[in-house]
Amino acid sequence: MNNKEDERVDTAAKEPYFWNSRTHEFLGRTATSWGLILLFYLVFYIFLGGMFVLTMYVMLLTLDDYKPTYQDRLATPGMMIRPRGEAMEILYNTQDAGSWVTYTEVLDNFLGPYNNSVQVQNNDDCAPDNFFIQEDSGEVRNNPKRSCQFNRTSLEACSGMTDRTYGYEAGQPCVLIKLNRVIGLLPGKDGQSPYVTCGAKKEDVDAMGELAYYPPNGTFNLMYFPYYGKRAQVNYSQPLVAVKFLNISLNSDVNVECKIKSNTLPAGGDRDKFAGRVSFKLRISSINN
Ligand SMILES: *[C@@H]1O[C@H](CO)[C@@H](O)[C@H](O)[C@H]1NC(C)=O
Ligand SMILES: *[C@@H]1O[C@H](CO)[C@@H](O)[C@H](O)[C@H]1NC(C)=O
Ligand SMILES: *[C@@H]1O[C@H](CO)[C@@H](O)[C@H](O)[C@H]1NC(C)=O
Ligand SMILES: *[C@@H]1O[C@H](CO)[C@@H](O)[C@H](O)[C@H]1NC(C)=O
Ligand SMILES: *[C@@H]1O[C@H](CO)[C@@H](O)[C@H](O)[C@H]1NC(C)=O
Repeated sequence: MNNKEDERVDTAAKEPYFWNSRTHEFLGRTATSWGLILLFYLVFYIFLGGMFVLTMYVMLLTLDDYKPTYQDRLATPGMMIRPRGEAMEILYNTQDAGSWVTYTEVLDNFLGPYNNSVQVQNNDDCAPDNFFIQEDSGEVRNNPKRSCQFNRTSLEACSGMTDRTYGYEAGQPCVLIKLNRVIGLLPGKDGQSPYVTCGAKKEDVDAMGELAYYPPNGTFNLMYFPYYGKRAQVNYSQPLVAVKFLNISLNSDVNVECKIKSNTLPAGGDRDKFAGRVSFKLRISSINN
C-alpha cells in the first residue's frame, strides 16, 4: 500500500466543489473566469440578435405592402362553386325543405355583398368589355384602387331576388361559379370576355338537361380584371356566373364539369385537373318520405 498516494486522492475528494474558500472558486472557476465567460456569451448573443434584426430589416425593405413578392402563378386559375355542399355534392329532396334550405342560406349570405344597393355605394359603374386598368405611375401609388359593380340582379333568375329559393324547391337549382383570384391576371383579349360552359360526364349527358347561364353567355366581363389584391382594391367584388339546371333528371346522380373558355388562358390540360375547371355532383330526389 502506498500511503502518500492515498492521502492525495483523499484531499482531492474532500475539496468542496460548490464553493471552495481556499482558492475562491465557485463551481470550479474563479470570479474572473466566470466573468469572462458571461461577457463572452453576452457579446455573442448581442451579435446574434443584431444579425437577426438586420436580416429581417433588409428583407422587410424588399416587401411591397400592396402586392405579394412571390405568387404561385398558375397559367389558368382554378374555379369554385357555391353552394359547395359536402365534398362538392349537392344532394337534396325537393319535398323536404330542410334538405335544401342550407344551400339557399349559403347563397343568401354569399350574395349579400352583391346587393345592388351595396354595389352602387362601393363601386364604379364601369364600361364593360374593357380591362379596368389602374396602374401606378412610377413610384406614385394609385391606391386605393376602385372596383367595378357586379350587381346581384345581373344573375337574374339565380339572384335570389325574384325566386327566393334559387330554383331549389322547383328542382331547377342554381349553382354559382367563381374564378379564383389571381393578381394581375388578364383572362381575355380583343374585348372578348372569358365564359363558363358546363357539361356532364358522358353517361349523364341526357340526365343533365338544358342549362341557363347568367349573366348572358356565362361571361366574366373583362371590366372585373385585372385584380390588384385585397389591400390595393379594398371593395373588389369577384365576378360570378350562375348556372341553372332547367331540366335535370330527378333521382339520379349527375356529374357535372364546368370549364372556363378564354382566348388567352391555356386550357388546363390533363396535367392539372383543377386548372380552369370545377367538377361537382348533383342528385335531386323527389320522393315523399
Ligand atoms: C341584400 O338584399 C337582401 C334582399 O333584399 C336582404 O335581405 C339582405 O339583408 C341584403 N344584404 C345586404 C348585405 O345588404
Ligand atoms: C369602398 O367602399 C366604401 C363604402 O361605401 C367607400 O366609402 C370607399 O370610398 C370605397 N373605396 C374604394 C377605393 O372604392
Ligand atoms: C347596377 O345597378 C344600378 C341600379 O341598381 C345601376 O345604376 C348600375 O348601372 C348597375 N351596374 C352595372 C354594372 O350593371
Ligand atoms: C352571347 O353570344 C352570342 C354568340 O356568341 C352573341 O351574339 C351575343 O351577343 C352574346 N350576348 C352577350 C350578352 O354577350
Ligand atoms: C326534359 O328532359 C327529358 C328527358 O330527361 C326530355 O324528355 C324532355 O323533352 C326535356 N324537356 C325539355 C323542355 O327540354
